[in-house]
Amino acid sequence: MLAAYIEAYGGPERLRVGTLPEPSPGAQDLLVDVAAASVNPIDFKLRQGKVKSMMRFDFPLILGNDLSGTVRATGPAVTRFKVGDRIIARLGKARIGAFAERALVTESDAALAPSSIDLADAAALPLAGLTAWQALFELGQLSAGQTLLVHAGAGGVGHLALQLGRWKGAQVIATASEKNRERCLQLGADQVIDYRSSRFEQIMHSADVVLDTQGGDTLLRSIAITRPAGHVISIAAMPTPEVARAWGVGPPLTWILAFLTRPERAAARARGVNYHYLFMRPDGAQLAELVKLVDAGQLRPQIDRRYPLRETAEALAYVEAGHAAGKVLVLP
Ligand SMILES: NC(=O)c1ccc[n+]([C@@H]2O[C@H](COP(=O)([O-])OP(=O)(O)OC[C@H]3O[C@@H](n4cnc5c(N)ncnc54)[C@H](OP(=O)(O)O)[C@@H]3O)[C@@H](O)[C@H]2O)c1
Repeated sequence: MLAAYIEAYGGPERLRVGTLPEPSPGAQDLLVDVAAASVNPIDFKLRQGKVKSMMRFDFPLILGNDLSGTVRATGPAVTRFKVGDRIIARLGKARIGAFAERALVTESDAALAPSSIDLADAAALPLAGLTAWQALFELGQLSAGQTLLVHAGAGGVGHLALQLGRWKGAQVIATASEKNRERCLQLGADQVIDYRSSRFEQIMHSADVVLDTQGGDTLLRSIAITRPAGHVISIAAMPTPEVARAWGVGPPLTWILAFLTRPERAAARARGVNYHYLFMRPDGAQLAELVKLVDAGQLRPQIDRRYPLRETAEALAYVEAGHAAGKVLVLP
């Protein structure tokens, strides 16, 4: 089958598109004919080797973390899906490989695809949608009437977070550049702050929940405007030592992370803010909740660009440039 893969970590030149053997399903696996895979920043970070201290992979490594497609075969222990089902999934972290004609999905990571949007477009949902859901509802405990600040409201995660915030009944504020103002307002933001020309803390003074997609200075300034007992969730900072320990990371790296994450943890502690680093996880049941919202017309993934599998390197380069509006798809 055709696949986009790397044989060693490095720059864009490491990415190859060629023929690799088709995977065969284990007991609880679905073998899926991929309709589309979405590009997520983890794809180029992984290619660069930036996550190799946290996750180990064998080569050749097919990239791509989430997908939509049709079940072609099932393992003997699969009970919830059958051949011909249209599904979406965030693939297991240890066994990615969505930029290919076929991929394996663990049954518990999959959900039936929404029926109200194109199957390929539904690939925009799993990783970014689950990230927004877990950040806002599991960690942020967002409720109606609260103020939610979403950084990069036009981005892959941000544009779904805005819609989920609106659905929950929160007052939603987004940061975005001027060209994305209208888009954010249409998706559910009550207010959009141009991050290029203003500092958000000079325009808004309090938030109950902040979704930080930037890290660094943006994260520290976000903590400074969050009310005591509120929640700041970063998906772009360094993992906290607690998260690293939960992944089974050993002491030397955990100590380094404790040192590197001291500014945000100390700032949050001093203010009485709950600070969380999130590394999202696959979850078929949560994905099914997102699918219900799509079919109820409450959530619409936006597609910025579509690339053929042979142009996976170009798709990654476009997202790596940092200005995608919505999601970018790769289609075999
Ligand atoms: N930890 C996790 O589990 C997890 C999961 C998903 C994503 N992430 C991380 O979260 C980050 C965002 O992911 P994504 O998929 O949403 O990325 P993305 O789609 O590539 O984000 C692009 C968007 O970011 C906006 N942007 C760039 N700089 C900004 C700034 N300083 N302030 C506000 N907006 C800015 C751009 O807007 P303009 O074009 O208007 O500039 C663009 O709309 C990445 O670092 C990714 O690795 C982590």
